[in-house]
Amino acid sequence: MKKLTVLSIIAASLILTGCGESSTGAEAKASSEKAPVAQEAKAEKTMKCGEGKCGGNKKSAATEAKEAAAVAVSKATEAVKEKVEEVKAKASDAIDSAKTAVASATTAAKEAVAKVTAPDGKAIFAKCAGCHGADGKTKALGKSEIIAGQAEADLEKKITEYKAGTRNTKGMGALMKGQVGGLSDAEVKAVATYISGL
Ligand code: HEC
Repeated sequence: MKKLTVLSIIAASLILTGCGESSTGAEAKASSEKAPVAQEAKAEKTMKCGEGKCGGNKKSAATEAKEAAAVAVSKATEAVKEKVEEVKAKASDAIDSAKTAVASATTAAKEAVAKVTAPDGKAIFAKCAGCHGADGKTKALGKSEIIAGQAEADLEKKITEYKAGTRNTKGMGALMKGQVGGLSDAEVKAVATYISGL
């Protein structure tokens, strides 16, 4: 009966202390000559501990916890990755639409500036209408060709030549030079475009 009590104390102590932990009390009792069996049990237990077999339940619970933690961590990592991808996709969408918005705003701004700065061909033609007719279909001073509807590039070339003083088809080149000499290249182009459309 006494032996049994010692044994159960040793057993309890082993379970409580687990593998490798100090169990001086139990050892002290086990080392007493009164309990050689207990000593054997302790030795066997220690061997098993050495092989990693002791505290089976305790260990597997810890392993389970570890595994569960690992699963949770990998799930969390996965979730974070997904979120990151989601955020990345959203961000790149936002960047794309911002780019598109900037591009169209730039285009609109350029168009607005072009409209404001582009010479008005119709306004320029006002001073030509006296000789060439409001519709551009009058032979200026009874001499010039009808300019309405001529190709834009031809008109631009002819006006530029008058500007340079190199064109004179009816002996009135100098007169035309006086008319168009002050026009800028952009104004020549604008009035040519307008006359071509008459
Ligand atoms: C005072 C009258 C007069 C005015 C104003 C005038 N022109 Fe002329 N234009 C002429 C005469 C005359 C000619 C023929 C010149 C020549 O001898 O080549 C001519 C020729 C031209 C031609 C060449 C036609 C061709 O096919 O050979 C063009 C283009 C032209 N004018 C454009 C203009 C424009 C643009 C303006 C206004 C900025 C203008 N003219 C203002 C009298 C005028």
